[in-house]
Order: sequence, then structure tokens, then C-alpha cells
Amino acid sequence: MILECPTQTLRETSGFVLETRRLTLRQPGLADIEAIAGIVSDKRVSINLRRVPHPYSVDDARDFVNSAAGSAETVFLVENGSEAVGLVGLSWETEGVPELGYCFGVDHWGKGFATEAARAAIDFAFEEFAIDRMTSGARVLNPASRHVLEKCGFNWTGVELHRFLALGSSTPVDCFKLERSVWSSIRNWSNSTRSA
Ligand SMILES: CC(C)(COP(=O)(O)OP(=O)(O)OC[C@H]1O[C@@H](n2cnc3c(N)ncnc32)[C@H](O)[C@@H]1OP(=O)(O)O)[C@@H](O)C(=O)NCCC(=O)NCCS
Repeated sequence: MILECPTQTLRETSGFVLETRRLTLRQPGLADIEAIAGIVSDKRVSINLRRVPHPYSVDDARDFVNSAAGSAETVFLVENGSEAVGLVGLSWETEGVPELGYCFGVDHWGKGFATEAARAAIDFAFEEFAIDRMTSGARVLNPASRHVLEKCGFNWTGVELHRFLALGSSTPVDCFKLERSVWSSIRNWSNSTRSA
């Protein structure tokens, strides 16, 4: 079933567990706050996330988990086996146009986890909700994240200045969008066969 307009309750991830080849994406709970703090407190992570302070404590992680349930966010904790390796989220601040965000623990960079989890969240968004497009962004100094977005089919739309809490300042961000038609085409590409 595809939903016209995601309500507050339906944007939450409580009813959804997404499985990929190596990863499980599920709603985070209070039992996960130390793992979340462990991932996000590393400055190499926090300086690339708009709304995250540095230093980042277990109390910040508790506030994040508690507020995720009542906010305009769809948040998934990403696990590889039983280990929490990252977070993926959709922000619904702009009604009908979710913004994709993600972060992964430094020890888990370079294994393709961000791409695998982002694709699962993108499929979830387009399959569950009647949205035409999604957006995302990455600091211009963050080529790994730009690469993840490009591998997921996002197209570059321009550069904007955004404030980053951990930096205490604004910094340029490459902005991207993914149209439903592009997502659909990528999903179906593997089904088409070359005839000659
Ligand atoms: C950005 C981030 C999510 C990437 O996670 P990851 O699991 O390492 O990503 P993946 O392995 O799926 O893909 C990264 C890609 O970028 C490439 N890459 C990594 N560093 C790069 C660099 N300096 N320049 C160009 N490409 C780079 C990798 O080679 C890989 O591409 P490939 O699969 O074609 O080889 C992770 O570094 C992170 O959490 N950073 C901090 C938070 C953050 O930046 N979040 C995104 C905010 S928009």
C-alpha cells in the first residue's frame, strides 16, 4: 500500500524493519544510546552532520532517541549482525519531500555500508509514500558522502550555505535530488535484457 501523505505516526519506524544483504535497519531504542554516542561523538562524524553538537554525549543520544519518536524524522539504527554500525534517517521538514541523511562509525567506513543502507531507506521512502522526489546534501569537503549519493542515483542541484552545529559556523553544502522516475528506472534497469 502506498500512502498519500505520511502522518506523524506512519513516519516513525516502529513498525518497519528493513533487511539488506548485510544489514538490518530498525527503530533505535534507549538500549542503543551508548552505541549511538560511540558513533556520533567522533568529530570526523559530527562535523559532517548539520544538527549534531560536538562534543556529543550519551545524554545527547538519549535526547535524540526520545525526540525521534515525536519529530518529523524517520530514524533507523543500522546493524551488521548484532553490532550497531550507523544511522540512516529521513527528515520530513519539507512536507512531501523527505531529506536523506546518514552516518556510520569510523571503524566501519569503506565497506559499502552507507550505500547499502541508504538504498534500503530510499526504497522504503518511495515504496511506502506517494512522494515524487527526495533530497540530500553533503559538505563540499565530504567526497565520500557525495559519492554515496551519486551511487544511489542522486543528481547534483547546486551549492547552498548551511549552518553546522559542531562547526559553530556555516559551510557550503552540495545539494542533490533523486526523482521517483530515476529511482524507478534504476530499479528496473537490471530487468531489461540486451537483445543484440
Ligand atoms: C560519508 C559516510 C557515510 C560514508 O560511509 P561508507 O560506509 O564509508 O560509504 P560507502 O563505503 O558506502 O561508500 C563510500 C564511497 O566513497 C568513496 N570515497 C571514500 N573516501 C573518498 C574520498 N576522499 N574521495 C572520493 N571518494 C571517496 C569510497 O571509495 C566509496 O566508493 P566506492 O564504493 O565506489 O569505492 C561516512 O564516511 C560517514 O559516516 N561520514 C561522517 C558522517 C557523514 O558524512 N554523513 C553524511 C552527511 S550527508
